[in-house]
Amino acid sequence: MQLAEINTHFTEVFGEQVDANYFAPGRINLIGEHTDYNGGHVFPAAISLGTYAAVSPTADQQLHLYSANFETQGIHEIDLNNLVFNKDDDWTNFVKGEFFLLQEAGVVFNHGLNIYFYGNLPAASGLSSSSSIELLTGTIINAYYNLDKTPLDLIKLGQQVENQYIGVNSGIMDQFAIGMGKKDQAIFLDTNTLDYHYYPITLDDYEIVIMNTNKPRALSDSKYNERRSECEAALARLQKVVAIDSLGDLTAESFDEYCYAINDDILIKRARHAVLENQRTIMAAKALTDGDLVKFGRLINASHVSLEYDYEVTGIELDTLAHTAWQQPGVLGARMTGAGFGGCAIAVVKSANIPDFVAKVGAAYRDVVGYDAGFYRAKIADGPHKIIDHNLIIE
Ligand code: GLA
Repeated sequence: MQLAEINTHFTEVFGEQVDANYFAPGRINLIGEHTDYNGGHVFPAAISLGTYAAVSPTADQQLHLYSANFETQGIHEIDLNNLVFNKDDDWTNFVKGEFFLLQEAGVVFNHGLNIYFYGNLPAASGLSSSSSIELLTGTIINAYYNLDKTPLDLIKLGQQVENQYIGVNSGIMDQFAIGMGKKDQAIFLDTNTLDYHYYPITLDDYEIVIMNTNKPRALSDSKYNERRSECEAALARLQKVVAIDSLGDLTAESFDEYCYAINDDILIKRARHAVLENQRTIMAAKALTDGDLVKFGRLINASHVSLEYDYEVTGIELDTLAHTAWQQPGVLGARMTGAGFGGCAIAVVKSANIPDFVAKVGAAYRDVVGYDAGFYRAKIADGPHKIIDHNLIIE
């Protein structure tokens, strides 16, 4: 598909010419899952799949929002003087939330916008389509209302939209991965200090394959909030015996020494995951620097096992993908990525083995789960930007 098709359709929908195009990526996470709200490290990367927008300013006080992914919904007309959350406004709440929180902070929007959205992230895949829309919208607002916000401002705004407007207590990983995305680089981020470093993703003759469970989205948001409260409860018990601010402050040794204070079988498993996953993430970044891809792969596998048994956020779909991937030739490692409960897994696979890998894992998945998984070769890409190349071909 060409960008020109989006722009032609924009004119059909809104009866106006496009003024500019923008793009924001989605993300994968290599390792460091459910550590970002526990003061730990994460290791994500922005990907070439994401959300495209075509924009033109309007003279009124309305947002006219249209998504090619939800064509039957038509144009959503949103009054800039009434931006309160409304469940019926569906996907547009991610856009409205950005305007709402900026307005609360004193920004005055003196005109409206037409925005046409088109996303090529697979639906409900856990590749952060919501953060992609947030960062895309933030970038558009920054440009059209001359706000001078830094990438970090827009990252924090996106997280605030999730936490305060949508009601999901997510960490900062997704917005950070997208907002700071860089071609062929993964981002090693300390979520406690927000210090970060880029690591070139040179995997020799290996590639990252994204495996989508295609599982219909269920109650993942409430389960996510539940895990977060469990970690907070474990932390409160630990803080009675050791001076720490977050689970990320503990090493494997200090966790072992103090975990008696948790004294609850579920809470101890949740905390153990948060602590050890953070340590694994630090080890994985080091393994990449040392060029030890085999060790990197083993840590990825260990992450999945911990998410399966201790954190309990995988399920038959993600487990089937990861376990089957581990058995295939040319695979260094495989694990779920993102929040879990469905969504996607990733595998590091030798390029020459990928066609066979897709056939074998795909067949096993269909046998066990009853429907097909989706497979994509991940391309690590840049963060949100204005599109300059009008002949762009969209994957
Ligand atoms: C979701 C959240 C992130 C992070 C991951 C799990 O993607 O939005 O903040 O917590 O789950 O690592």
